[in-house]
Amino acid sequence: MTSKKYDLVIKNGRVIDSALGFGRNAHVFIKDGRIVKVEVDSAPIRQELRTLDSDQIIDATDKLVVPGLIDIHVHLREPGREDEETVESGCRAAAAGGFTSICCMPNTTPQIDNQGTVKFVQDRAQNTDARVFVVGAITKGQKGKELAEIGDLVKMGAVAISDDGFYVQNAEIMRRALEYARMFDIPVMQHSEDRQLCEGGMMNESYESTRLGLRGSPAVAEEVAVLRDIALCRLTEGRLHIQHITTRRAVDAVRQAKKEGVNVTAEATPHHLILTDKEISKEFNTNLRVNPPLRIEDDRDAVIEGLVDGTIDCIASDHAPHSAEEKDCEFDQAPPGMIGLETSLGLVKTFLIDKGYLSWADVIRKMTINPARILNLPGGTLEEGSLADITIIDPEKKWTVKADKFLSRSNNSPFIGQQLTCQVYKTILNGKVVFER
Ligand code: NCD
Repeated sequence: MTSKKYDLVIKNGRVIDSALGFGRNAHVFIKDGRIVKVEVDSAPIRQELRTLDSDQIIDATDKLVVPGLIDIHVHLREPGREDEETVESGCRAAAAGGFTSICCMPNTTPQIDNQGTVKFVQDRAQNTDARVFVVGAITKGQKGKELAEIGDLVKMGAVAISDDGFYVQNAEIMRRALEYARMFDIPVMQHSEDRQLCEGGMMNESYESTRLGLRGSPAVAEEVAVLRDIALCRLTEGRLHIQHITTRRAVDAVRQAKKEGVNVTAEATPHHLILTDKEISKEFNTNLRVNPPLRIEDDRDAVIEGLVDGTIDCIASDHAPHSAEEKDCEFDQAPPGMIGLETSLGLVKTFLIDKGYLSWADVIRKMTINPARILNLPGGTLEEGSLADITIIDPEKKWTVKADKFLSRSNNSPFIGQQLTCQVYKTILNGKVVFER
């Protein structure tokens, strides 16, 4: 507690907040880690600003001031693969990408399938540059055989359950998971790829995979998985969240289910919104190997359409760090996954806002309040009394993604060399600047 009326004031920014509905010049006043008020510019407010010490003020002229971004799909590799990412380094990368809250997936070694591992990650996340919310496993060891102690996980603070990386193949287990999760009002986040159908797949099954002689993982693997889970969600009245949706038919299925009132939400990753399987043959860049795989243009277009019409609720990176040693190999030998925290916002601006698909307001909604609502997270808004988690964006700043500039411990991004058209200027967590350029 300090005696000053405000700890921090962000003045002259263009505030975008879906709850407040602003998109204009306003000032954000912060005290004790909370938003005191957001005021549209006026003579009395300018007078009040003159009374403040300059060290309390951030001038955000020509910048966007938005709620701290939220990424609900992140892989931190701790415990187990601290060479690829730690909770701390992942949070540093998050802050650099404008994220103040991230949700980490349980596919660590050991898996986050009990209270001890949830607590371990939470302890590691103390005093880092982002809030970390833990997603517990659906099944013990993510083996798909036996439900994890879901009540225990929730008691310890898990905000959702997921076997991400693995689809819960057994429909009976998935049914029970939805029922249990419903008792705690948390969603089941599903990696929707039927395991048998995509067995051995290295890229999307298509003309390209045939041409390249690489085993394909078919779009129908996702469609089958999504349709089954929608049916189970309808039956159980639970909450289903489809992770990284990638195919036209899966998007159609979610659209239809929502119309019928099924409690389903979905996320899309920047890479599935931007890239297609055609990229792979250019260089066989192993950073393009990812699950679910990059699809054909028609699927990519459908994911964009779903994002635009609200079928897809949010954008999540699926930040999946892998070591250079493991990615430096033949395409079919590489582990799937790419990092995303530090490029997510810039990619969305460059490829979706600049091309006219989405407005800034749409993007901010899909990267703040919508993901917050799906997982009942704090934040996502600048409303009075809410957390002072804020991202300040330089909306026209051009920069080029460079391999040696990532704060993540890994640099497995296929976007290295790509010019992006906006950059995070400052990230504020709990009223304190945790990242600045
Ligand atoms: C993820 C990872 O590396 O943890 N990889 C990926 O391609 N998305 C796990 C997964 O979802 O397969």
